[in-house]
Amino acid sequence: MAEGEPSRLQYLRNRILSSREAFERFGSDTGQVISRGLTHSIGTEQTYENILPRFQGKTIVEVLADKTETAQQKANQLGVPPERVKYLDIGYGNGFALLEASENELIIPIGYGNSHLTEVEYKDLDGTVHPPTQSELNVRRVQLIEGNVLDIGHNITGNSIDVISMEQVMHYTDLPYWEIIKRIYRLLKPGGVAFIDNTYFSNREELSSFLTAQGYSFEIGFDNISFQKTKPTLDVPIRTKTGETGEFQTVEILRE
Ligand SMILES: C[S@@+](CC[C@H](N)C(=O)[O-])C[C@H]1O[C@@H](n2cnc3c(N)ncnc32)[C@H](O)[C@@H]1O
Repeated sequence: MAEGEPSRLQYLRNRILSSREAFERFGSDTGQVISRGLTHSIGTEQTYENILPRFQGKTIVEVLADKTETAQQKANQLGVPPERVKYLDIGYGNGFALLEASENELIIPIGYGNSHLTEVEYKDLDGTVHPPTQSELNVRRVQLIEGNVLDIGHNITGNSIDVISMEQVMHYTDLPYWEIIKRIYRLLKPGGVAFIDNTYFSNREELSSFLTAQGYSFEIGFDNISFQKTKPTLDVPIRTKTGETGEFQTVEILRE
């Protein structure tokens, strides 16, 4: 590495800034801020419910509902207040999905990424302008944590989250997907479930059977992946394709 050049990890960290720059350059001029919620959206037909992968046939909304119901039942049996379900949205855009999740008082919604899209107006397809979501996120006490997904293990405690979504974010990261997936896996509580899109694994059948044989529970689709934490760590060597060129890349172990 030449003197003064950023390290590969530093280069990758900086990429979150390019997504902000891209938004500042194009997003605010065209008003193309898309607000995808869990079940309803503004500016698009897409919702987290209909574009994220399912896990064991269930959508993210159904898995959240199952988890809150189980928490309530457990609390009723023990005669104690329910333990709230922690839902983490990585790369939360303008926080629309988090706002929707906050309507259920048994869910603690947490956003991770940066808040550049919560501070600007957004538009409907018919041109109706809506105020920025930031003040509503504050009123509803939605917790937003600033950071790059590469550093998520430093900013969020391991084994602490019940449900994770990462929707239309993976393609910005430019890391071998497996490195990101490992970081996300660590955050889940045992039995926690993650839903991620914009992944492309060409060898997905092979990968699925390999993971199943090792005791993991992964479902790998053409451009998405969902999984449940069944083992304390995800410690398997995987060679993945990355980026839009789809070139093979040897997985680098990037130390956190
Ligand atoms: C296309 S938007 C998707 C927003 C929302 N998830 C949705 O589907 O409507 C991409 C989001 O990813 C976030 N993002 C991009 N790179 C990231 C990174 N390296 N770490 C965390 N968030 C990132 C951006 O800040 C932005 O909020």
